[in-house]
Amino acid sequence: MMQQSASARKPKPPEMSSTDSLAVALADLDVLLAAGLNAFKSAATSEAVEASRIDYLGQKQGRLRAAQDRLKSLEPASRRAYGQQFNAAKAALEAALDAARVRVERRATTPIGLDVTLPGIRPRLGHRHPLTQTADELIDLFGRFGFAVARGPEVEDVHHNFDALNIPPNHFARDPLDNFYLAADGEPSQPEAPATSRSESALSRSGPPTAMLRSQTSTVQIRVMESQPPPVRVIAIGRVYRPDTVDATHSFMFHQIEGLMVDRGVTMAHLKSVLRLFAESYLGREVKIRFRPSFFPFTEPSVEVDMLWHGGERWVEMGGAGMVDPNVLRSVGYDPEDVTGFAFGLGIERLCMRRHGIDDIRLLYQNDVRFLRQF
Ligand code: PHE
Repeated sequence: MMQQSASARKPKPPEMSSTDSLAVALADLDVLLAAGLNAFKSAATSEAVEASRIDYLGQKQGRLRAAQDRLKSLEPASRRAYGQQFNAAKAALEAALDAARVRVERRATTPIGLDVTLPGIRPRLGHRHPLTQTADELIDLFGRFGFAVARGPEVEDVHHNFDALNIPPNHFARDPLDNFYLAADGEPSQPEAPATSRSESALSRSGPPTAMLRSQTSTVQIRVMESQPPPVRVIAIGRVYRPDTVDATHSFMFHQIEGLMVDRGVTMAHLKSVLRLFAESYLGREVKIRFRPSFFPFTEPSVEVDMLWHGGERWVEMGGAGMVDPNVLRSVGYDPEDVTGFAFGLGIERLCMRRHGIDDIRLLYQNDVRFLRQF
């Protein structure tokens, strides 16, 4: 009842006496300290810390400043006690401010702790280059037809690149303008002579070159037959080099897949069946290929194999093929009366391009990940 009547009364403004009660002043100081400590403790950002600093420790309008001014309103006898309590409160609030600053600073610079329940960040994996994918797939496909994989060197001797393949010494395929010949052992690869006598190149001074970058993987046919008796059923995949002018379908380096099958009774029908089956397996059932009569010194008869290019408007050469020439078989010690064989050499880039609808061979060598990522 008492309270009710008290609150019903209009609250009087605080007694404007010339002196203040010490007990009330100390109690107010306690409330101020508790509120200030709480404010600094709960400030989560440096902005919140700064706002609390201005609120409590601000030089002009801070609450502590107001509490300090209150000293004057106390009786002189009370001032000492109040002053001591005030200094302690001020020290405590300043310490709380420092602690809060350190806390929000650390939170801003240190990473949040490890949350093992979050999904992991998957490292981005690369993948095989489309040409490598093509090569791997060809190895797989021909493996199912019973072909093993053979390898040969990219730096080849002229014997394996030409002589053993029945290519006569004066054949145009040997033209230095169509091949990358290497200077003979011990000869400088660059002519030492000044530009005026350029014609006297390392080649002409050291006699006919014996080493070159292979211009075809047919070299591996010879190497395989030299190293084993028939029957043979191998493919060889690798780089070949020709000084061609680079354009959308040509490059000075490209990849070939060579195939060789030698056994009793191997015929042209086997060759055509294997290539057709291969083309349908790799490029799809609807692919069209055709065989055109041609000439290679190391096969007789010889054909060129074409495939219908993207859009079906033109034929593009996949490579060459034919029945291994008896001269080649004889030169590696095989008996052409006993065994026969077929061979083929196809360009891997063009197979890859036809398969994926790529229209420019240069895209395969630029290593632009935006392109490569699509395969
Ligand atoms: N080596 C030939 C070329 O690069 C292709 C070929 C291989 C032809 C095997 C016949 C037999 O053009």
